[in-house]
Amino acid sequence: MNHDFPSDFIWGAAASAYQIEGAAHEDGRGESIWDRFSATPGKVRAGDTGEIACDFYHRYPEDIGLMRELGLDAFRFSIAWPRIVPNATGPVNEAGLDFYDRLVDALLEAGIRPYVNLFHWDLPQKLEDAGGWPERATAEAFAGYAAVVAQRLGDRVKDWITHNEPFCTSWLGYGLGAHAPGRTSVRDALAASHHALLAHGWAVEAIRRASPGAEVGIVVDPWPIHPASDDPVDVAAAWAEDGVRNRWFFDPLLRGSYPEDVLERFADEAPPVRDGDLATISVPLDFLGVNNYSRRIVRAGLNGTVIDVPAPGGELTDMGWEVYPDGLFDSLLRMHREYGVESIYVTENGAAFADVRSHDGQIHDVERIAFLDGYLDAIERAIAEGVPLRGYFVWSLLDNFEWSLGYSKRFGLVYVDYPTLERVPKDSFYWYRDLIGSGRMQRRSVAAG
Ligand code: FCB
Repeated sequence: MNHDFPSDFIWGAAASAYQIEGAAHEDGRGESIWDRFSATPGKVRAGDTGEIACDFYHRYPEDIGLMRELGLDAFRFSIAWPRIVPNATGPVNEAGLDFYDRLVDALLEAGIRPYVNLFHWDLPQKLEDAGGWPERATAEAFAGYAAVVAQRLGDRVKDWITHNEPFCTSWLGYGLGAHAPGRTSVRDALAASHHALLAHGWAVEAIRRASPGAEVGIVVDPWPIHPASDDPVDVAAAWAEDGVRNRWFFDPLLRGSYPEDVLERFADEAPPVRDGDLATISVPLDFLGVNNYSRRIVRAGLNGTVIDVPAPGGELTDMGWEVYPDGLFDSLLRMHREYGVESIYVTENGAAFADVRSHDGQIHDVERIAFLDGYLDAIERAIAEGVPLRGYFVWSLLDNFEWSLGYSKRFGLVYVDYPTLERVPKDSFYWYRDLIGSGRMQRRSVAAG
């Protein structure tokens, strides 16, 4: 398929600290909730941990070489909070800051713009021991950490993300127990979500103070929730689930209020909202990051529950997620039209497939190429509909630690042979390289007249 994107469109790839860095005990890094969680038997598939991961901490020069070969404009990565403030509220660890200093310099030298994300789920364990995200003090600690990082990197980093997917931080971590720290309390999940959003608002101010001219945003992960039938009961169930999964985050961030239907539903477990919190949370942003992979189809279950039903005839990725590019299209239109967002990046999109190395040593991941092609087509349609989309970050540059699923799910454009840590670009890597390159060629010929 031919693609035609705006000439200033940013082509990127994304990753996160715990999923790629490894070096879990190096240079004064403190323990994170993911170290603790993955060391707890039964929590992560096959007992996998991020102890070594892709060893990006040491191999980043080689990986930047790959980014360069791809022709990336930008790389989105996260900072490991426990490298910066290992004991949560104690002194700052200079060696941790030095690492990100080197990384940022190396990216800039390669002509790649760093998009720095301050939180991708690896909370310092010490903060969890003191109550974690359900405590307001965690949001206060985050504001301090954000200021430290922005002061150190803000002269060179101009694009900042405060949080990645606060839904996952709060509900997967504290409500459903599927992610670290593994709690299963609705009250904790709601309090955690409120404090994560509050932390976001405070961090926006801290970053702007430390790095004037910086652009700051947050990353949310809309999952369209479709009713399995036209039955009003199913339609109502889908709307209710959309409230918890989507509107609970979009409304406070973009409208300054929590959705009434969700507040009513959880009246007994309501989060501790103080005067002024919602104004802090809804601080105007420079952009919104949207991560999207798929959608869900639900029908009403008993007692207000919803039951997920399989997509009719849908193609699935190795995550069991339906390939559904219209879900991204709809999400982008929703953020722009319903919520009035005027500047959007797709900060994650991609697919896991059961990649294998063929006899020729290569990885012929035709499914991933087809997936990306279809989603990029959806993006072009959204741009044609007037969505102010500034760039696209594929998830992910490298195969990596996929949270509770360990190393069993491969999302990379680059295959990682975990026993040796060798990197092998997949066919999708060359496809993405050519896509980025062809846009550049066109731009060059237009400029040459
Ligand atoms: C997103 C996460 C990212 C990765 C992808 C597959 O929810 O932000 O770290 O796990 O899913």
